[in-house]
Amino acid sequence: MSIKQKVPVLNDGWVIKGTKEIPRLVNLKTTKIINLTGETLDYILLCDGTNDYLDIEQKYPQFDYETIDSFYKQFEEENVISIINKKISKINIDIAMGTKEPWLKEVHLDITNNCNLRCRHCFWGENLKKEENIPYEKWEKAIDDMHNSGVARIVLSGGEALTYKELYEIVKHIYDCNIMLASIFTNGTIYNEQFKKILDFIVEKNMRMVFYVSLDGFTAQQHDFIRGKGNFDKTIYFLKELKKYKDANNAEFKIIVNSLIHKQNYKDLISWYYFIDDLGLYGWRFTTGRVSGFLKCNVDKIKVSVHDCEEEFLKLINFLIDKYKKGENIMYVNIENLFSTKALKDKVMYIFDENLNICDYKYNACSVDPHGNVQFCTGWQNIKYGNVFKENIENIWLSPELQKLKNMKIKEIKDCQDCRYLKYCGGGCRLECKNIYAKDETICANFKIFEEKIIPLLKANNIRFDI
Ligand SMILES: C[S@@+](CC[C@H](N)C(=O)[O-])C[C@H]1O[C@@H](n2cnc3c(N)ncnc32)[C@H](O)[C@@H]1O
Ligand code: SF4
Ligand code: SF4
Repeated sequence: MSIKQKVPVLNDGWVIKGTKEIPRLVNLKTTKIINLTGETLDYILLCDGTNDYLDIEQKYPQFDYETIDSFYKQFEEENVISIINKKISKINIDIAMGTKEPWLKEVHLDITNNCNLRCRHCFWGENLKKEENIPYEKWEKAIDDMHNSGVARIVLSGGEALTYKELYEIVKHIYDCNIMLASIFTNGTIYNEQFKKILDFIVEKNMRMVFYVSLDGFTAQQHDFIRGKGNFDKTIYFLKELKKYKDANNAEFKIIVNSLIHKQNYKDLISWYYFIDDLGLYGWRFTTGRVSGFLKCNVDKIKVSVHDCEEEFLKLINFLIDKYKKGENIMYVNIENLFSTKALKDKVMYIFDENLNICDYKYNACSVDPHGNVQFCTGWQNIKYGNVFKENIENIWLSPELQKLKNMKIKEIKDCQDCRYLKYCGGGCRLECKNIYAKDETICANFKIFEEKIIPLLKANNIRFDI
């Protein structure tokens, strides 16, 4: 075959998102992202199967065939394109970008205010209301806008997302818009026909998403203490059915348990670990909780601090390190963001530089509440920057008020500047503070424990700290 006849074709799964300032190639399956610099976007857009190198050379006569070939070969090596030997019928390259930086990469979508439970710790508090849901058609249009703004990922939560009657249609529409469904958060009590239909769709489309299922103890007494009688059995049934379904279909999704550590469940975390591991799940992450909503009203009965749990946390960390050293399989575990088994495996724990933005890991993300209001994040319910049913999400995202906070740097948190823990803590949650320049007092004490008790364990296991 002559070099002139070679045809570069974009591989399945790749779309173009990002912004007009910095377009990105996004792989919807692997989540890989490649920034496209200079004129690279124009060359990728030629990979629709209808252009051979002869056509490309005629459009860009400044390049010879060898230059064109070496350019496309780089993308072939990254599995972005295939180079075939004859033209095919035109394939559709999906291109949808925001107008300017910063890119709105992810939206956390709380699809409904409704919930079949009323947990004693729920940060939604009285905002959880039995009320009419926003009709599907309005969300459909809002998701179209997200697509047109270059959004790459959507997280679905609520309330209880599985109570939303058209959740299947929402999942399908997200997929049809070439947006990755990153995860669904659920209390794991509703394994109904709609949920089975969603699972079938996720498997049919080979979607690599995560189900975060809440489990607040490994006995009925512990879990039902905050979630209500009978709910432990329902969630265990849900988890077992979901795992069975995953195995039977060789499905790509992961199941991670999300837990609140409270007064009735913080002892014997190792037995709890074994309980989840025996269910065959991917991971477990837990927190002692944010004091807002119902947890604020029930704080004396429920809330424990990291200090209260210190001994139990350390037992679990030592147990995990031991298992790891013996070469045994360990489940993914994240303890209050102070320790993660990922650090053991990757041999690195990430720390903060003062020039990073606050909440850096969610810098390119915002939340949309059940009424369509755009928020800084899901916890920050009282400040609304605009409404997706009245205005395009990109306009709201780029509003100076929201961007001012998104671009706030760690070094601007006045109270934290002389703190020796700043590089580990990053200044905590701006929502939990008296004002945005104040320290997050709820977590200050955690980092003393981190420095004195956890860092030596990490260092002894050759884990380096990196930005
Ligand atoms: C708001 S719920 C929504 C999804 C679903 N209804 C559920 O319970 O999993 C999402 C997660 O937030 C957790 N959560 C609720 N209130 C919390 C609080 N005050 N502090 C920490 N996590 C909380 C829940 O336990 C759950 O794992
Ligand atoms: S934590 Fe989840 S299940 Fe419990 S009341 Fe809140 S939204 Fe509902
Ligand atoms: S530990 Fe407290 S004072 Fe120190 S950086 Fe974190 S929030 Fe700020």
